[in-house]
Amino acid sequence: MSGEMFDHGPEKGKALMDVLEGRMPWRRPAWFMRQAGRYLPEYRETRAKAGSFLDLCYDPELSAEVTFQPLRRFDLDAAILFADILLVPQALGAGLSFNAGEGPVLEPVRSMEDVLRLKPEGVADRLSSIYETVARISEGLPAHVALIGFCGAPWTVATYMVEGGGSPERLRTRMAAARGEEWFDRLVDIITEASIEYLARQVEAGADTVQVFDTWAGDLGDGLREKYVIRPFRRIVEGLGERGIDVPVIGFARGLGAAQEQFARESGVQCVGCSWPLPVDYMAEVLAPICPVQGNLDPVAVMAGDPYLREAVERIVRTIPRERHVFNLGHGFKPETPIENVERMVAWLREFDSADTT
Ligand code: CP3
Repeated sequence: MSGEMFDHGPEKGKALMDVLEGRMPWRRPAWFMRQAGRYLPEYRETRAKAGSFLDLCYDPELSAEVTFQPLRRFDLDAAILFADILLVPQALGAGLSFNAGEGPVLEPVRSMEDVLRLKPEGVADRLSSIYETVARISEGLPAHVALIGFCGAPWTVATYMVEGGGSPERLRTRMAAARGEEWFDRLVDIITEASIEYLARQVEAGADTVQVFDTWAGDLGDGLREKYVIRPFRRIVEGLGERGIDVPVIGFARGLGAAQEQFARESGVQCVGCSWPLPVDYMAEVLAPICPVQGNLDPVAVMAGDPYLREAVERIVRTIPRERHVFNLGHGFKPETPIENVERMVAWLREFDSADTT
């Protein structure tokens, strides 16, 4: 498998791990959220072969295959496990289906009775096919490519469980948080503990690092942010440590604005992912002195192409120092993204990155 992908040889090391562990990398590491997905025709083909998105997620051979696909096209520094953050609620017994054009549907959890019906015992065991996928990917990657495992953050996963799917405002979940409902706190704890074990197993199967996705972290104001974003992240980092797992954790807490600094200082993560509304200057001046930063290219820049794409890549690379930066988008690729724009983005990145340091 590795022969089909760019292999720079073991002597260069994993640039992503260098940045996450505080060393100067041989080049600026890059990977992209949703780098495997519908914008790639080969993904659509494999997904059709699998039958459904969930069948694809639970098939180690096919999900390893789609994980490799973007790496054959683009010269990247990391692979991200192909799976979904909603597999944990499914393994907890909350049901899950993806209906064409509708997004995810789960059985809503809205009371202590609903929470008590969940099955936290052995939850990580029910996700064993995912660890098999991780092991397969890990065996097939070139030496310089890091493997990223992941899960959803407790707040974001809880929003899908309480709402029963995606929701534009997530008001039921935000109300449960604002009222400090006991059942809701129990739910968050259950997701948190399940996530620790799930991530630990991914690392044991070969993941070099893990990213925790808190897509809806921006829902919460002062007071609630500490309770439902910062504290669960800290518990996950601490829980991994207790479990003997010592890999860097990337925290992607989307939409925090100026609270991103508090998140960087208090969440315990080793790297913070940022979305595009956060000024690149803020990433460089406020966050990078605290920990390495990841992001934050506007996914629409990759849809639109040059000149906005070139300018956006240049601004990021010239503003954030190489040893403190993981090049990425501020959120996942849109399915409409032209592949040639991704190629251009990677070419601009490599050009500006080398110009920056010579
Ligand atoms: O390449 C990668 O980034 C790894 C795989 C990955 C997927 N989802 C695959 C996927 C990862 C890391 C995720 C995370 C995820 N899943 C998040 C957090 C990040 C974010 O995007 O905010 C969330 C909120 C989910 C939940 C989810 N999964 C939704 C709401 C949807 C439907 C909307 C959509 O984009 O279709 C999914 C489906 C999903 N997850 C797809 C992929 C490639 C599309 C499935 C398909 O139709 O083939």
